[in-house]
Amino acid sequence: MNLKSISSSLFAGIILLACSGTFSTIAVAAGAQKESACTPRELPAIPERKWSFQGIFGHYDHDSALRGFEVYKGVCASCHSLNLFAFRNLAALGATEEEIKGVAQEFEVPAAPNDDGEIVARKALPSDHFPKPYPNLKAAAAANGGAIPPDLSLIVKARADLEAHVPKILGGYMTPPAGCDIPEGRYYNAYFPGYQISMAPPLLADAVTYNDGTPATVEQMTVDINNFLAFVAEPKLEERKQTGLKVLIFLIILTVLLYLAKREVWRKVH
Ligand code: HEC
Repeated sequence: MNLKSISSSLFAGIILLACSGTFSTIAVAAGAQKESACTPRELPAIPERKWSFQGIFGHYDHDSALRGFEVYKGVCASCHSLNLFAFRNLAALGATEEEIKGVAQEFEVPAAPNDDGEIVARKALPSDHFPKPYPNLKAAAAANGGAIPPDLSLIVKARADLEAHVPKILGGYMTPPAGCDIPEGRYYNAYFPGYQISMAPPLLADAVTYNDGTPATVEQMTVDINNFLAFVAEPKLEERKQTGLKVLIFLIILTVLLYLAKREVWRKVH
């Protein structure tokens, strides 16, 4: 066996390993939900939405994401933290400095210890992160029937169904199939693993009043909160996609130039 054949069989082995790894992960994921009385006979239809941040020209729908912030602030923030988000991040969505200061002032955060060593509350500043709803995980679990509402900063990236996850969970509530008993404090949700979730359906029509006058239907709030959470999960997406596009254009021009240069250099030989 020469070096070349050893390296090519090594390469083939690695590819095989990678493939079998992927397939077994898929198999595990597919088999995770065992058939039971609670298996939904029919899944609630979640509209296939085209999100503005998908594709190579992807960008955020700023107005929708700002409305989504209203939904987070008015509904989700009472249970879910958003640790990676600071008020000043709203500037990237076009909020003015005044608006950001105004929003931050609605909240209080612990100040640095005063001269007596006591920690008192102060009004939040644009540089502060959004305050957590519970002081610790035990308090969060105690308030939610033992379940901990996960931090939502990365939820759009953290689940296999990505930008479809939050809309699926929000739209997945339905009457359980016959024979499926749901304990007190749990809710049947066709898209949550195990089909029971400890979060009551959080969105009711007009749960928030949008500043821009958009009617706050459940559908509208679902789209808006997902746009906002996608932004929180990747605030630099617009920059990343624009840079990628510039690099591609540059590489295309460079390829043409190199090709012309090559033809020129080799002209006499050919
Ligand atoms: C009353 C408290 C409460 C409110 C309000 C609330 N949630 Fe939840 N949420 C929870 C709890 C508790 C869980 C964990 C459920 C479980 O583990 O069974 C959860 C779970 C979730 C999940 C599933 C997370 C996962 O692991 O995949 C999503 C998504 C979610 N919430 C989004 C939202 C959004 C968006 C809002 C605002 C529109 C919201 N929640 C409002 C309590 C709440």
